Amino acid sequence: MNGSSETKTPDLWSDYWRSGQLHACTFDFPEDAREAIAARWRKEFSALPSGATILDVATGSGALIALAAEVAGPDRHLSATGVDLAEIDQLKDTGLTASAEFDITFLGGTDAARLPFEDRQFTLVVSQFGLEYADFESAMNEACRVAKAKIVALMHAAESPVVRQNGLIPGQVHWLRSELALFDAAREHFQKATDKTGNRLTEISAAIRKKCASLENPDFLVSVSKYVGQLLGRSATLGSGQGLAFLDAMEAQLVIHADLMTALIEAARSEADLALARDICAAAGYNSVNVSGEYFGREPQLVGHWLSAEREPHD
Ligand SMILES: C[S@@+](CC[C@H](N)C(=O)[O-])C[C@H]1O[C@@H](n2cnc3c(N)ncnc32)[C@H](O)[C@@H]1O
Repeated sequence: MNGSSETKTPDLWSDYWRSGQLHACTFDFPEDAREAIAARWRKEFSALPSGATILDVATGSGALIALAAEVAGPDRHLSATGVDLAEIDQLKDTGLTASAEFDITFLGGTDAARLPFEDRQFTLVVSQFGLEYADFESAMNEACRVAKAKIVALMHAAESPVVRQNGLIPGQVHWLRSELALFDAAREHFQKATDKTGNRLTEISAAIRKKCASLENPDFLVSVSKYVGQLLGRSATLGSGQGLAFLDAMEAQLVIHADLMTALIEAARSEADLALARDICAAAGYNSVNVSGEYFGREPQLVGHWLSAEREPHD
């Protein structure tokens, strides 16, 4: 499965980061899973010697760079570079600032499949749910090329429940908007509430409940239906102008969310992709390559694949 290096959605991601998100994909994870992943990254960064350079591929708003900054100090000076295809404004979108111990550079508009760096330029190359969004084979080759000694990447796993469940969201958004015509019905009700518009919304609500009962994870549909219900409950105080504006904004958000989930599904990597990644690393002289799953939950569920590859630094 190839990701889209000529990503169809750079504007989508640029808008997303401008909206002030910090963690794209770990944001919705339970606290313990988020903390376990952050702990692994802190461990990687803490193992670096003073003077080390880090490249974060598909950095988003620099979630990994923020973790690296935590372990920098007077005895460990680090330099981090974050690249992303989206245009990211460091100050506005990340809020990260350099310090005496920690240099930061962000390069937006940079494709992970064509990195503008020298061979072996960075001590450590990292990526969290990032490089798999680019053309995977090229991005792996590039990560191998520009890393001096080590690459660590956490990638979406095609067979994970997170990907399977989120994969249903684009279809659910289409169902809500086009088949149920939820937003049209709600708009009509806001403009002029009648028995007919009220009954239509009651029917729609029943259809959503029925669908939820059949889903492994109904959270998304439940939250949409709750939000619309609350909005309608406040129709008297909101007035039709404000209510319609909220509905429009919500529908637009859902469309963006569906597009992001489509990008996530396309980015997710299978076992075959991991085998390819191993081969690419081995061919580039990485003699130690490990692939392992990241799991969370009482009945542990896969949330991603870790890939860690090391080679001699050749200084
Ligand atoms: C799921 S987000 C992860 C962001 C960040 N690593 C994090 O953990 O929050 C995926 C990122 O990949 C970026 N991206 C998509 N295609 C890319 C490409 N071809 N090259 C570089 N970055 C890309 C998107 O702009 C987005 O910021």
